[in-house]
Amino acid sequence: MSNQDFLPINGTDYVEFYVGNAKQAAHYYQTAFGFQPLAYSGLETGQTDRTSYVLQQGKIRFVFTTALHPDSSIGEHVKQHGDGVKVVALWVDDARSAFYDTVNRGAKPYMNPTVHNDQYGEVVLSGIHIYGETVHVFVERKNYTGPFLPGFVKWEPSYRPSEVGLKYVDHMVGNVDWGLMDTWVNFYSNVMGFHQMLSFDDKDISTEYTALMSKVMSNGNGYIKFPINEPAKGKKKSQIEEYIEFYHGSGVQHVAMATDNILHTVSELKARGVEFLTVPDSYYETVSERVGLIEEDINELKARGVLIDRDDEGYLLQLFTKPVEDRPTVFYEIIQRKGAKSFGKGNFKALFESIEREQERRNTL
Ligand code: FE2
Repeated sequence: MSNQDFLPINGTDYVEFYVGNAKQAAHYYQTAFGFQPLAYSGLETGQTDRTSYVLQQGKIRFVFTTALHPDSSIGEHVKQHGDGVKVVALWVDDARSAFYDTVNRGAKPYMNPTVHNDQYGEVVLSGIHIYGETVHVFVERKNYTGPFLPGFVKWEPSYRPSEVGLKYVDHMVGNVDWGLMDTWVNFYSNVMGFHQMLSFDDKDISTEYTALMSKVMSNGNGYIKFPINEPAKGKKKSQIEEYIEFYHGSGVQHVAMATDNILHTVSELKARGVEFLTVPDSYYETVSERVGLIEEDINELKARGVLIDRDDEGYLLQLFTKPVEDRPTVFYEIIQRKGAKSFGKGNFKALFESIEREQERRNTL
């Protein structure tokens, strides 16, 4: 693992979405997902071209940014992709070496190392391009004590729905266009020093109609896991193809957020109007045979539609939302790991069939 040590990453620093209306997106993530207000930047803080709201739950930090004028790269991004992830920010101890080391290995620069100051200290930011129009920003914040980043003020509204128990980003999945999976697997391996954990091909992940291929890349300490999906040929259009078509290119497909009490978290999310994919009741008739003994009551899992899978090291509980915008693009996974380090391969077939039922309703199958 020695070649992985050149880019130590402490975790996901934040995920920034470019959206059509940041005020309403922030309200949705507060109300539906229980994110707490953290920081704000906009006209009132001297920011004249954009507005950003920062929300946090556990260690998960989301930023929602919108353009204030038509001539804007943010507005252009939204026009192309709809609401979507622009920045997957990684928390590092040295944003300069993260930039120069990855650029020297072939990364395309997005932002040269830049020092940002305010009364709370100093942050160094740098960035590189990844798939599609998505970027990694390296965040060095060891000399900073402010609420988020210089330029942001504390956001303290009185409206604060409670958290739902989301703790940290477990993994983030990228969908890349036909034939590009290995290009980006090689990027994470050669440029970022990641290693490959797992791979799935179209025999693992296919139904009668649709298929995909997937490889999972992880950094040295295992804190960062990026599965990368590519569509595979099937009888009909796969969910990955559907994403690529509506996102107009490669981009982030889903963010998996971990909880240590999925029964509570999912009950809360459903009560607040978050919509999930469902599997037929028959899934639960055979699940015990497949996964063996688990601590939770199968009937409680069934009542909430939570899926179960097992690998050599334990089991996991997971559930997927429907897309959270009108384009069938970005969605979320809620996951609770009970020892398992995999991604729910045993559920893929049931999930794909569920997604196909949704695609059929959208006339995109
Ligand atoms: Fe996932």
